[in-house]
This record gives sequence, C-alpha cells and structure tokens, in this order.
Amino acid sequence: MKITLSAIKADIGSIGGHIIPSDDLLMEVEDYIDKAVGDLIFDYFIGNIGDDITILLSHELGSNSEKIHRLAWDAFLAGTEIAKEQGLYGAGQDLLSDSFSGNICGLGPGIAEITFDERENESFLLIAADKTEPGAFNLPLYLGFADPMYNSGLILAPAIGKGFSFTVIDVSHTEGDRVIELVTPEEVYDLVALLRDNGRFVVESIHTRTTGAHTVACSTTRLRNIAGKYVGKDDPIMLIRTQKDFPATGEIIAPYEIGHIVAGFMRGSHTGPLMPVRAGSGISFFDGPPSVSCLAFCVHNGILTEPSDLFDHPYWDWVRNNICVKTHEIRRQGFSGAAMLPYSDLEYGGITVRMEQLENKFKIRGR
Ligand code: 13P
Ligand code: 13P
Ligand code: MG
Ligand code: MG
Repeated sequence: MKITLSAIKADIGSIGGHIIPSDDLLMEVEDYIDKAVGDLIFDYFIGNIGDDITILLSHELGSNSEKIHRLAWDAFLAGTEIAKEQGLYGAGQDLLSDSFSGNICGLGPGIAEITFDERENESFLLIAADKTEPGAFNLPLYLGFADPMYNSGLILAPAIGKGFSFTVIDVSHTEGDRVIELVTPEEVYDLVALLRDNGRFVVESIHTRTTGAHTVACSTTRLRNIAGKYVGKDDPIMLIRTQKDFPATGEIIAPYEIGHIVAGFMRGSHTGPLMPVRAGSGISFFDGPPSVSCLAFCVHNGILTEPSDLFDHPYWDWVRNNICVKTHEIRRQGFSGAAMLPYSDLEYGGITVRMEQLENKFKIRGR
C-alpha cells in the first residue's frame, strides 16, 4: 500500500514568551485535525517541541497535496484564534501569508513529506527541533548515514554499505530551489564541504542507492527569506524511515549525544549545543538551549502506533548533563566571538540600526 507521511510544524503562539504552546492551543489543533480522520487522512499525531507544534499526518494523497496542506494550514489558523484569545506570545508567529494558495511551502510552516510503499514492518522517526535551524541536522545526518564510526550498518549490512544519495539545498538562494545531489561514499568530501555550512547548505532528502527508496525528508524553510526580516528561527522538522535497507534507529540517533554547537539560541542570534530532550519539553535557560526531540513510530495500513520517546531514557540524562556543561561554558563568554552568530546572520534589525548610528561617529585618524 502506498502512503504519504506529512510532518508539518509551526509556531502559532506560546505561554510566557517563546516557551511552550498552551494545552488549549494543542487541543484546538488536534480537534481540527481529528475531524479529517477517515476522510482526508488515515491517522495523525499532534505534539510539540518548545513553542513549535508538530502535525504528523498519514494519508494516500501523495506529497504536496493541496488538500493536506490546506488541512494543516487551517488547523494552524484555528489554533491561532485560540492563541489570540488566550493572549499567547507570538500568536500566529509562523503564518506569514494572509491566504493559502495551494501549497504550504513558502508560507511559513516547515514541512517534511515522504511517499512510499509501506513495508511489512514500517518504522520511522519524527525528529523536531526548536531554537535552531534546519542545518542543525546536517552533522547527525552525515554521521548517521555516511560514517561507519556511527553507522555500523555501512560495514555490516550489504544494502546499507552501497551508500546513500544526499540532496542538498542552498537556502540562501531565494529565486527558485538551488539543489545538488551527491552520493556517499565516493563524494563524501564534497558533501562535507557543503554540510559544514549549516546556515546555507541543508540536507533536504536522502535516498538509498540500492533501490532509490526515500529515507529522509527535512524541512528547509528559511523564514527570513519569506518574511524579508527576522520573524523567529526556522525550527526544523524531519522524517526518517529506519531499519532493513535504511540505518537502524539507534544509528540515526547516536550522533545526537555530541551536542554539537548550532545557531538559534536566544533571539536566534546566539550559538549553543543541541540538547536531546523529551518530546513536549518546553524551553527555559536563555530561551533555549537549542533542543531536539525524537519520536519513533510504526505505521501499518496508514494507522500509526503510539510514539516511543527515544530521548526519554536514562542514557540521555547523562548526555543532557554533559551538554549542560558545554552550554554553560559557551554562555560564560556572553556576546563575545563564537558565542554569537556572525554579523551577517544577526537576525534582529536592532544591531543594524546601532551600527549605522556608530558609522557617523567613526573618524579616520590623521586626516
Ligand atoms: P534485531 O535483530 O532485534 O532486529 O536488531 C537488528 C538491529 O538493527 C539492531 O541494531
Ligand atoms: P522561536 O523561533 O522558537 O519562536 O524563538 C524566537 C527567539 O528568538 C527566542 O529567543
Ligand atoms: Mg516563538
Ligand atoms: Mg520555535
């Protein structure tokens, strides 16, 4: 049976700042989506990471379905009304367009979709992050799919050992999608040359080289490019099919123990380690830390199991403690150097105005 998984996320308002959606808000989105079961969709799951709401839908309308995108858009609009009624902060934050015109891409919400012939045992992961950008997934995807230090399947499982095809998008290019396909292992150095630049080159999808099956889909929205100014970080969402011809679930999540430093901490202007947290966690220290959650599901005939929260395990408590130390260390240097994003990336306009004012005060000595 051919099904599509659509994961769509948006920040439409949260309690106490950019922290967490209210229960009423989550319930409104869920009630809206629930009405579509048996009609447009087979099944759904609603969750959140920090202030971002995630809608996961299973259906047979294919990727880029206008009906599915409209359903998610309308659910977010309905939620926004509740967010306004409750006075939530940033109500409707990610809904950047006044009207829906057929496809949710480019309107603000992030979207990741995979259409596939359901396997007998179809396991997949829903990975979502807050206070960071889609490029935050570059390193864990590279390590999980191309590095035998993390993915033992590359040497142990012949199908996986054939490597993968990465589609990478240049998110700075706003006139149309500028994409490149690179295969591992042959083109691994070219791939890394791009993926080191999380702010510009982002893994959009990964396919196997054995059958061409689609295993990873990642949202690549750049809100700043849509709105023309900073309106919140492009908190990403990702779907990954696992096991058999794809990496094992444990191989995919292993790189998240690194707590690699990503962009998006406080005001989208600082850097900090990416912390794996329980799904549904809120945000706290310094409007962060940048956080990632991972839920595992199986799906059969379009019906989802309950999720298993992979970062809700004692191992990750130890990881979180380590990442707290790393977070503390970078925060100790406040605004200095690597603790903040480079000037070109500073998202709020305030510093631009300040620098313009200072411009007139500069003098060239000796003239
Ligand atoms: P099972 O033998 O339990 O299916 O596990 C295989 C595997 O992928 C473990 O990483
Ligand atoms: P969000 O993008 O998650 O709304 O966070 C905005 C921010 O900059 C918080 O400091
Ligand atoms: Mg927000
Ligand atoms: Mg957010």
